[in-house]
Amino acid sequence: MEVAKSISEVRDIVKAARGRGGKVGFVPTMGALHAGHVSLIRRSVEDGCFTVVSIFVNPTQFGAGEDFEKYPRPLDADLKICEDKKVDLVFVPAAGELYGKETLTWVNVEKLTAGLCGRFRPGHFRGVATVCAKLFNIVQPDVAYFGQKDAQQAVVIKKMVAELNMPLEISICPTVRETDGLAVSSRNQYLEPAQRKDAACLYSALQKCRQSAKSGMRDTQQLIAEMRKIIEAVPTVKQIDYIEIVDTHSLQPLEKIIDKALVALAVKIGTTRLIDNVIVSAGSG
Ligand code: PAJ
Repeated sequence: MEVAKSISEVRDIVKAARGRGGKVGFVPTMGALHAGHVSLIRRSVEDGCFTVVSIFVNPTQFGAGEDFEKYPRPLDADLKICEDKKVDLVFVPAAGELYGKETLTWVNVEKLTAGLCGRFRPGHFRGVATVCAKLFNIVQPDVAYFGQKDAQQAVVIKKMVAELNMPLEISICPTVRETDGLAVSSRNQYLEPAQRKDAACLYSALQKCRQSAKSGMRDTQQLIAEMRKIIEAVPTVKQIDYIEIVDTHSLQPLEKIIDKALVALAVKIGTTRLIDNVIVSAGSG
């Protein structure tokens, strides 16, 4: 496994790999690697790709007062995981490598970034889209792997790639969960034991929604009210940012679930903001 800190090293190593034939698979991350990240890496390796992982805590996607400074950065452990999982190249950009003193060029994906997390994290998706565009230009992968865990991010990146005619495929992989259903996340380590236990209510609420929709409840307000009740009953829940049921492509709120829908939520447990989602289908009831 190679570790590169500069853009030129990455370009050289990827070019050499391409020369040997085969596809290039890319997994962009902010590090603190866990089972969710590993599932993406595994997919790339299983697809037979020369697998590139980037580890970069991207400052432009954090808002004022968010956790940029305290975001975990266990680089040695991350590199060990990459090595174990047969990653070919890890890109850990040196300070100043990705952004100069000032950035004048941004990628803004409109509409899709207005709702859900976009409403609570202004500028977040501009930062995500911009850094992904930069990383795609540097690595030039055939396939980039993203997690369904960040559903809005996945939709935004797919739209950016389609509309900017970027020559790569975006592959979305299922959310990896703990045994109690909590979606694995680097931010779970901020949770105190009681909060960690309570955090399972997010998935319980999503599952309740799936069951109700399956048994014929189509009215989204009713479904949302059921979920809200489950989550509000939990002691360490401090704030519900949103619970929404939206179209899986446009991310616009739905009144009724006719076919498929994305059920997404963001909840603060103590001071830790957690997100989760499922895709549900309407039953015949
Ligand atoms: P990060 O939060 O490190 O996540 C990197 C990738 O891992 C994302 O595609 C995310 O959806 C996926 N992921 C996280 N938890 C997962 C889980 N439990 N199951 C499956 N996949 C999971 O997302 C980012 O970083 C950044 O926004 C980034 C795209 C790297 C741009 O800075």
